Amino acid sequence: MSAVTRKLSHIEHAQAQQAHVTTPFKAIRLRHCALPEVDLNAVDLSANCLNHVLSAPLFISSMTGGPHLASRINQHLAEAARELGLAMGVGSQRIALESDDHAGLTHSVRTAIGDQPLFANLGAITASQLADIRCIERILAPLDADALILHFNPMQEALQDHGDRNWNGVLKACEAICRWSPIPVIAKEVGFGFDHQSAKALLDVGIQIIDVAGTGGTQFAAIEQTLAQQSATQELGDLFSDWGYSTPECLIELKQLDPITLWASGGIQSGLDVAKALALGATLCGLGGRLLGPALESTDAVVAALQQIMYELKLSCFGVGVARSDALEYTHIWSTGSLKNLKYSASSIPD
Ligand SMILES: Cc1cc2nc3c(=O)[nH]c(=O)nc-3n(C[C@H](O)[C@H](O)[C@H](O)COP(=O)(O)O)c2cc1C
Repeated sequence: MSAVTRKLSHIEHAQAQQAHVTTPFKAIRLRHCALPEVDLNAVDLSANCLNHVLSAPLFISSMTGGPHLASRINQHLAEAARELGLAMGVGSQRIALESDDHAGLTHSVRTAIGDQPLFANLGAITASQLADIRCIERILAPLDADALILHFNPMQEALQDHGDRNWNGVLKACEAICRWSPIPVIAKEVGFGFDHQSAKALLDVGIQIIDVAGTGGTQFAAIEQTLAQQSATQELGDLFSDWGYSTPECLIELKQLDPITLWASGGIQSGLDVAKALALGATLCGLGGRLLGPALESTDAVVAALQQIMYELKLSCFGVGVARSDALEYTHIWSTGSLKNLKYSASSIPD
């Protein structure tokens, strides 16, 4: 299967999965305040993102590079981010790096998003295989990127018929990229979540932000299982279908690495989920699969979906009794339900 065909299939299957997403934040309850002393319509959602001020603590998660359909999706997402004052990541630029084809990720995405923050994207494993990391400049320049996202997807690769299985040397490559990169480098998963030790190792080599991208939303094990031609790979996809950590679990675990800038994505479906993620320590929240349907439709559909999420976030703040979303904190959590948490304590983190 070609890389372009695979990317198109990801869009199709991820959108189909949306019908079955049950948010991993369901188990978490926020405190209710019966005397908010807050004007709901005046709740301030503004948030900082790499020296920019966003109108809300939201970014559009990296999804598509690639083919014609993808460039239409990116156009709608980027225009919506510009209209609402939000940030956005593009999908993997591997194809653009390995060929002369910019694969839909030309300067047009930068034109569509205006001055809002835009993030380039490359697999950490792809980056580790480059003969000369300076060629990454070729994917930063057309976007005039504000940051480079390296995505970590070892299980997704391992569950693909011909995915990359050898992850030796990836940390060293990340260190070299962080040292070289003219812009901040962000690490994210793709829906299996980030563990404490990997996050710590990456922060130590210069990664500035971790987007946990946990389980609970788009499930790549299931998607790769559907796409696998070999029956052995299909069975593995089934066996490992619930592998990984949920987004709330990751936030609880990684927050102990303080100081850390944490972004939350993976299964965020509503403004209430955003409020819970912020209370668990995230500073920004990313939406992926939730925006695919609207992005296939139009810019207006993406704007409407995001405005709804922003209103739900305002209502959550009002319900908790805070006038600003960046005032949400752990004390506003009433219960984390049955979440298995706090496996590590700060004192037991291995060096
Ligand atoms: C169709 C699709 C394509 C994706 N492609 C990429 C990618 O190229 N690079 C990346 O870092 N993440 C990619 N992701 C992962 C998302 O950025 C996000 O981390 C993940 O989907 C979890 O968020 P969600 O549950 O809101 O979808 C993709 C997700 C989808 C749905």
